[in-house]
Amino acid sequence: MDSIEHNRQAWDQRVRDGQRFTRPATPMELREAAKNIDPWVSAEGVHHKTVLCLGAGGGRQGPLYAAAGGLVTVVDVSVQQLEIDRRVAHQAKLNLITVATSMDDLSQLVAGSFDIVVHPVSTCYLPDIVRVYEQVARVLKIGGLYVSQHKQPTSLQADIRRSKHGYEITEPYYRQGPLPDVKGSPHREPGTLEYLHRWEQLIGGMCRSGFVIEDLAEPKHADPAAKMGSFGDRSQFIAPYVRIKARRVEQPERTDRTPTITLA
Ligand SMILES: C[S@@+](CC[C@H](N)C(=O)[O-])C[C@H]1O[C@@H](n2cnc3c(N)ncnc32)[C@H](O)[C@@H]1O
Repeated sequence: MDSIEHNRQAWDQRVRDGQRFTRPATPMELREAAKNIDPWVSAEGVHHKTVLCLGAGGGRQGPLYAAAGGLVTVVDVSVQQLEIDRRVAHQAKLNLITVATSMDDLSQLVAGSFDIVVHPVSTCYLPDIVRVYEQVARVLKIGGLYVSQHKQPTSLQADIRRSKHGYEITEPYYRQGPLPDVKGSPHREPGTLEYLHRWEQLIGGMCRSGFVIEDLAEPKHADPAAKMGSFGDRSQFIAPYVRIKARRVEQPERTDRTPTITLA
């Protein structure tokens, strides 16, 4: 079984088990949708814009952007996650389209058809992030906005337990293949296969795929009062996520996907 099929089954199971990130937006959140969507997207304006919510099933992102006035398509590999989007949309009388596919194959979507792509944390479930960026570049209009969030590589490298030295780096940076399974970590989703992407892939790969980066943020989860070993405590040492605001620009075709730069 390949990693896409593995993760599809794992996320379908997470829905059946009612796990994290499978819970829909509440009616109250939908009523105040403009306040509950990404601030960079909100500043751009969503009304009557075509919005692709990528790797974003689960009844939260898609319904919120639709309630804020966007013409929404939700892509997710998990049929169960998309079922939640359809149910919430039906209950709240919202229109949205759902497409079950892996985010590294958006061939069902028309090239240049989206004004905005919103991409919550989900690139960690695929080994090749640049392939995903190339797919996003194809479906986004020139000048379109791409807002994505990713797990930081250091967070995926570091132990989930706190030692007397802090949170030690236990995984090599230049690693191949899925990360070892981990239980009881709020930074990982047990049962799924997750991959570390290096900064040159996360940021460089985006630039090489036809985007310029306009802003970057590290959502702050650090909590000095948090219990030792908790999410808030670990986040004091390592920011778990990075959020990137990028713009699709015209760029000449390139063949070198990952240039090797060696400094003397
Ligand atoms: C952490 S959740 C993000 C969406 C979440 N419901 C939220 O509230 O933001 C990750 C999502 O990525 C989806 N996913 C995993 N692998 C994928 C792939 N290869 N292509 C598309 N979606 C994928 C999962 O099914 C899941 O819905």
